[in-house]
Amino acid sequence: MTDKIDVLISEDEVGLRIGQIAEKINDDYKGKSLYIISILKGAVFFTVELARRLTVPVYMDFMQVSSYGDSQVSSGSIKIKKDTDGDIEGKDVLIIEDIIDTGYTLKYLKDYLLKRNPASLKLCALLDKPERRETEIDMDYTGFSIPDKFVVGYGLDYAQKYRNLPYIGVVELKED
Ligand code: IMP
Ligand code: MG
Repeated sequence: MTDKIDVLISEDEVGLRIGQIAEKINDDYKGKSLYIISILKGAVFFTVELARRLTVPVYMDFMQVSSYGDSQVSSGSIKIKKDTDGDIEGKDVLIIEDIIDTGYTLKYLKDYLLKRNPASLKLCALLDKPERRETEIDMDYTGFSIPDKFVVGYGLDYAQKYRNLPYIGVVELKED
């Protein structure tokens, strides 16, 4: 089986947009330092490209989460597979995700991390599928709003494939 992938957002467009987000963050955090928590594995490509463009001092940390059971039904329950290495108390924290879909993952992480008393906590995602939202959540930085289609590339996977594509594409499943 080969999957057909149509380009939704080109490599150049993604790069340009990440540059704009970085400028905004540099501005918003002027005079402060930033504690980034990147969500493995999908957000890694975005995090690296963003972090390279940040001029404020950055500390990088990672978390990994997974949805319990059948994600179509029970996407509300999230399991922490890897927690932060550092202590975020009193820090200006920015969570970086690949995509916000139902919103359950970021909502859970936000509530979970707020209990540790960071000085501030903001949310950033490269992609947003607003039509799919099931829980109310305010994003601080988003790259692109996209239609309700399954996308891959730039860190996003389909069954662990295609994370390394340098653009965002839509997968069309095709039988040979
Ligand atoms: P949420 O909790 O429903 O917002 O889910 C966010 C997570 O679902 C992301 O971190 C992705 O791992 C995954 N996800 C949602 N939509 C897509 C997609 O179109 N392609 C790949 N992964 C996706
Ligand atoms: Mg993910």
